[in-house]
Amino acid sequence: MSAERASIRALTDAEVEALCALAGEIWREHYPAIIGQAQIEYMLAQRYRPEVIRAELARGGVWWDLLLAGGEPRGYASYFLGEAIQEMKLDKLYVHGECRGRGYGAMMLQRALSAARANGCERLVLAVNKHNAGAIAAYRGWGFAIARSSVTDIGGGFVMDDYIMTRAL
Ligand SMILES: CC(C)(COP(=O)(O)OP(=O)(O)OC[C@H]1O[C@@H](n2cnc3c(N)ncnc32)[C@H](O)[C@@H]1OP(=O)(O)O)[C@@H](O)C(=O)NCCC(=O)NCCS
Repeated sequence: MSAERASIRALTDAEVEALCALAGEIWREHYPAIIGQAQIEYMLAQRYRPEVIRAELARGGVWWDLLLAGGEPRGYASYFLGEAIQEMKLDKLYVHGECRGRGYGAMMLQRALSAARANGCERLVLAVNKHNAGAIAAYRGWGFAIARSSVTDIGGGFVMDDYIMTRAL
């Protein structure tokens, strides 16, 4: 399937369960070697419960995009205006393992970049696990560079051990 047959649109309320199911599939396949099973389940429960995402959609201020390929949800992204002035935080960017390397990640990134430009931002910033080599390689290819390290206690005895990467617009 080519990237041309994929489309991205703003996530709707009716698609939240499908997005949570997709996230569960992606996380349980991708993250075991990076953060381990227990942290995966903890973070999924913290971030991908339907009521958590519905609350974000209702509150506004967070863009949620859903990527459809072959009519099925196969990826998603979310982003919001950061704490620092003129900064957009790319909070989530995920493509199903069966669909990677087809340009879908780049398509979703373009939407986040457009929103960032439209909101007068000067850079895009993201956090990526230090051991997530594939994603780091993709981000480098898209012009992001590592700005610093960040270790965040997320409760439950878990930490996020990340690089903060930034890209000027
Ligand atoms: C990172 C991710 C979103 C990229 O999406 P994608 O649809 O595969 O990306 P694209 O097809 O647009 O590829 C973008 C570039 O990154 C490269 N790339 C993508 N995944 C890569 C990997 N695992 N290793 C090395 N390079 C990779 C591609 O080769 C491509 O480079 P090119 O344009 O020079 O050919 C996707 O790989 C993914 O979902 N990974 C698992 C989840 C994850 O870690 N998300 C990020 C959390 S911070």
